[in-house]
Amino acid sequence: MGTALVTGGTSGIGAEFARQLAARGHDIVLVARDTGRLEAMAAELRSRGRAGGATTATATESTTKATVEILVADLADPGDTDRVAARLADPLHPIDWFINNAGFRVSSRLTTPDIAEHDRAFAVMVRAVLVLGAAAAAAMRDRGAGRIVNVASINGQLTLSNYSAIKAWVRVYSESLSNELSGSGVTATALMPGWVRTEFHQRAGATKGEKGRGGIPNFLWLEPELLVRECLRDVEKNRVISIPTIRYQLLSWLLKHLPDSTVRAVSRRISLRRSTAASN
Ligand SMILES: NC(=O)c1ccc[n+]([C@@H]2O[C@H](COP(=O)([O-])OP(=O)(O)OC[C@H]3O[C@@H](n4cnc5c(N)ncnc54)[C@H](OP(=O)(O)O)[C@@H]3O)[C@@H](O)[C@H]2O)c1
Repeated sequence: MGTALVTGGTSGIGAEFARQLAARGHDIVLVARDTGRLEAMAAELRSRGRAGGATTATATESTTKATVEILVADLADPGDTDRVAARLADPLHPIDWFINNAGFRVSSRLTTPDIAEHDRAFAVMVRAVLVLGAAAAAAMRDRGAGRIVNVASINGQLTLSNYSAIKAWVRVYSESLSNELSGSGVTATALMPGWVRTEFHQRAGATKGEKGRGGIPNFLWLEPELLVRECLRDVEKNRVISIPTIRYQLLSWLLKHLPDSTVRAVSRRISLRRSTAASN
């Protein structure tokens, strides 16, 4: 079945990719910053059953169930990102699936003079995505096979500040990577989740209003399990864009066809709700 490397594999969407890919028989490499959580996730994956059952002895701990390797790395740090890129390029322990997922919500406003959070967002969700995507794609192309999933967002079709701009970049980047890899046996897919129940929203310091729904209707909240299951199915169909669930496919279609001014007005309303919730 091969090995899957998942950035941000300790929580939310990344953790679910790790679970579902491990259950299909893949060995897993988890990347994140928090060592304790990486170890806990690795233990969880090793204790679960999986489809393939085969194991490979690597420099990592392994059991008869799953081989799980952990890489402690802060993808805001170029040196750490290079270490993960080297792991992706390692010809002795090839990576067959790469889930380019780590990320966070950017709350800083565009008019704030302190751009530290924007800088970190560019490093983790643009620079690292590009560097790691290049390392994975080159190694996979040499072997003539591989799957890359870049986690973008439906938010990239809105105009909700720098986060939307970054996620729009991830989608365009993925489509371009897919073009570059055409005919090589390697696929690149942009996953465009809507609102998903993960730690993402709490980590962004969301207020009690946002933790629950934040003005977002209940039916728009997705569980990571469904999102990842539908994405893996799309990847197997060689889809370049994956928009799990019909409700979000419709929403994406609407956002694409509505006048730009309407999309901006909708975005303004969501932003206003967020700032009102934050100040309460
Ligand atoms: N949840 C949503 O509604 C939603 C919607 C659309 C798109 N997304 C995207 O989905 C992706 C995953 O988000 P999620 O919702 O699963 O969030 P989450 O539950 O907060 O998980 C984020 C993961 O990324 C890791 N991470 C964060 N910063 C990192 C860094 N600097 N270096 C290495 N790892 C880092 C975290 O681990 P450590 O903290 O230990 O590093 C964690 O494993 C993100 O790209 C996000 O933008 C989320």
